[in-house]
Amino acid sequence: MSLKDVCPIIQFPDLGDERGKLVVIEGARSIPFEVKRVFYIYDSDSTVVRGKHANRESEFVLINVAGQSKVRITDGIEELVVELNKPMMGVYIPKMIWKDMYDFSSDSVLLVLANTHYDGNEYIRNYDEYLKIMLEEKNE
Ligand code: TYD
Repeated sequence: MSLKDVCPIIQFPDLGDERGKLVVIEGARSIPFEVKRVFYIYDSDSTVVRGKHANRESEFVLINVAGQSKVRITDGIEELVVELNKPMMGVYIPKMIWKDMYDFSSDSVLLVLANTHYDGNEYIRNYDEYLKIMLEEKNE
């Protein structure tokens, strides 16, 4: 499976009308998991790189509800850059995928939905360690 299939772009339906736009995201319906955590990142600028981790347990959907940013996704072999620039699109990032978020516009509000409560211990923040784990998993 290619990284594009592992981390699909999700287009949310437009429920807007003449009064304005409306986007609805229902856990385990419009996205592949029930939502346990929501956070959002704003006031980062174009010089900042965030993320720089993989998660043993957490799955995420990233949506730029305002402005734009990019997310670089890798499984240690393939690499994919997704430009998040529409409130109606998100990208699904499953467990054990390394991600960097960067190129934030000044008005960027990056909304993140997760399937877990926060646990710092499930984060892998060292890229060499991540590559080692992925290689071990592949050879199992
Ligand atoms: P960090 O993981 O570095 O943010 P990002 O991946 O978006 O660059 O998190 C920054 C701080 O916030 C760190 O001390 C952990 C804390 N944090 C929580 O307490 N709960 C959360 O859900 C998240 C994402 C971070």
